[in-house]
Amino acid sequence: MTLQFSLATAAPETIDTACVVVGIYEGGVFSSAAARVDSAADGAIKRQVESGDISGKAGSSTVLFAPHGVKARRVLVVGLGTQKSFDAARYQKVNIEAVRALGRLPIDSAVSYLSEIDVPGRDAAWRVRTAVLAADHASYRYTATFKPREKSAQPELATLAFAGDSNSQARLDQAIAIAEGVRFARELANLPPNICNPAYIADQAKAFADGQDDKVSCNVLDHVEMEKLGFGSLLAVARGSVNKPKLVVLEYKGGNDGDKPYAFVGKGVTFDSGGISLKPGAGMEEMKFDMGGAAGVIGGFIAAVKMKLKLNLVCVVPTVENMPDGDSYRPSDVVTSLSGLTIEVLNTDAEGRLILCDALTYTAQTFQPHTIIDAATLTGACVIALGKHATGLMSKHDDLAAELLAAGDETLDRAWRLPLWDDYQAQLDSGFADIANIGGKSAGAITAACFLSRFTEGQRWAHLDIAGTAWDEGRKGLATGRPVSLLAQWLIDRCA
Ligand code: BES
Ligand code: MN
Ligand code: ZN
Repeated sequence: MTLQFSLATAAPETIDTACVVVGIYEGGVFSSAAARVDSAADGAIKRQVESGDISGKAGSSTVLFAPHGVKARRVLVVGLGTQKSFDAARYQKVNIEAVRALGRLPIDSAVSYLSEIDVPGRDAAWRVRTAVLAADHASYRYTATFKPREKSAQPELATLAFAGDSNSQARLDQAIAIAEGVRFARELANLPPNICNPAYIADQAKAFADGQDDKVSCNVLDHVEMEKLGFGSLLAVARGSVNKPKLVVLEYKGGNDGDKPYAFVGKGVTFDSGGISLKPGAGMEEMKFDMGGAAGVIGGFIAAVKMKLKLNLVCVVPTVENMPDGDSYRPSDVVTSLSGLTIEVLNTDAEGRLILCDALTYTAQTFQPHTIIDAATLTGACVIALGKHATGLMSKHDDLAAELLAAGDETLDRAWRLPLWDDYQAQLDSGFADIANIGGKSAGAITAACFLSRFTEGQRWAHLDIAGTAWDEGRKGLATGRPVSLLAQWLIDRCA
C-alpha cells in the first residue's frame, strides 16, 4: 500500500490523530513540538527522559499511550542524536526510523512534526520534501512474487501528514511525484528476470505512457527494426537469449515546441550472466538488478511527467538479456556499431557499454538533445572505487558535472566525480577493430566511460555509474530507486 501524504498546520498538542511524532535530542534537549506536547501533558515526556526510558539516541523511539492533556491517542518520541551533530543525513535517517516505528503500531494515520526540526543549510520546503521521500522509502514493501497474504485485522499506516504551512504545498506535490518515480524504479528492478525481461520493461513503459495525456508517448523498436537501422553492437549482446531485445523510447513534450530535449539513457540488462565470459556462480543472482539504470531513468521520466515540468525530455532504454548459448556472441568477435565504429569484443561480460553505445548514437542522431545523461550498473570497478554510497559521475563537461553533483547533494542521492581524461583512452586500443570493449585491469569504471565517450563526441554528456548504489547488497537487498531523486532534482533545477 502506498502512503498518502498531506500537510498539517495545527499545534502538536491539539491535533486529532492516532499518533503525533515529535523529536528529542540526546541529553534531554526538546524540539519545540516535543516541548509543547510535554508541557500540555504535564511533563510526561520529561519524566521518561529523567527515568532513562527515553535516551534521544538517533533512531530510537518510545510510544506514550493516551497521555493526559494531549488530543492525539499516542505520542511517538523519536531520538534525534546530539543537536550539535544534527545534519541532513541524520534528518533523513530519523524520518525513516519514525515511519518504521509507526508501521509497528496498530494505526492507519499519523502526523509528524519532525519536519519542523531545524536542519543546517536546508529550508522548510526541503524538510517536507525529504521527509516525504524518506517515509515513502521506509514504507515500501516488495510483495509481487510472494503468495498473496490474507489481509490482517490490524490497521496499516495509510496516511501521514507532516507539519508545514501552505508554502510547502508545492514541495509536497513535487515529493509525491518523485516518490512515484522512485517506487516505479524499485519495483521494476526488484522483479525477477523471468518476469522482468526486455518485453516486460517495454510494456511497463507503454502502460505508463498510455495512462498520460498526449504530451507523453512511447515507441518501442524491436530487433527487426534495430537490424534495419544497424544496431550491430546491441544485437550482438542480445543474440544468446530467447528474450528478444527492445529499444524503448519515451518522449515528454512539457516544454516549447522548438526546445531541444534533455535525454536520459539507461542500461537495461534484465539479467547479466556474463554470456560466454560467464560470471562465477556466487552472487550471480544480483545481476537481475543490471537493469537498474533503465529503471532509474524511466523513474526519473515519470517524476518529470508527474511534476509537469516545463521542458522536453526523452528517455531511451536499450534492454537485452546477456546469456551464454550456441548462438551467443563470443570473445574476439568484431561487431559494427550503429555509429559505424567497429568494436572488438574481448569480454562478453562488458556488455553494458555495447548496448549503451548504440542507444547513445541513436539518441544523439534522432533527437539532437540539449544534454544526455546515461545511468548504468556498468562496472564492478566503480563499486571498488566508491563503495555503496556514491554514484560514479564521469563527464568532460565541468558545468554539467557540477549541476549533477549539486542535485545529488540536494537530494542526498550523492554522486562523486571520477576523471575522464583522454590519457585513459589508449587502454581501449585494439589490433583488430576501432576500439576494444575492455580496458584492462586499472581504472575499470573510467575506461568503461571512455568507451561510451567515443559514441558521444560533440554531445553535452555525463555518465552515472550506479553499480554500487542501485541496490542494497545481501540476500534481502532491495533496489534503492537511485538515481531517480538525483535526476528529478537535476531537471527541477533546469526549470528554475
Ligand atoms: N553488470 C556488470 C557490472 C556490475 C558488477 C555491477 C557487479 C554491479 C556489481 C557489468 O556488465 C560487468 O560485468 N562488468 C565487468 C566489466 C569487465 C568485464 C571489464 C566487471 O565489472 O567486472
Ligand atoms: Mn557484464
Ligand atoms: Zn552488466
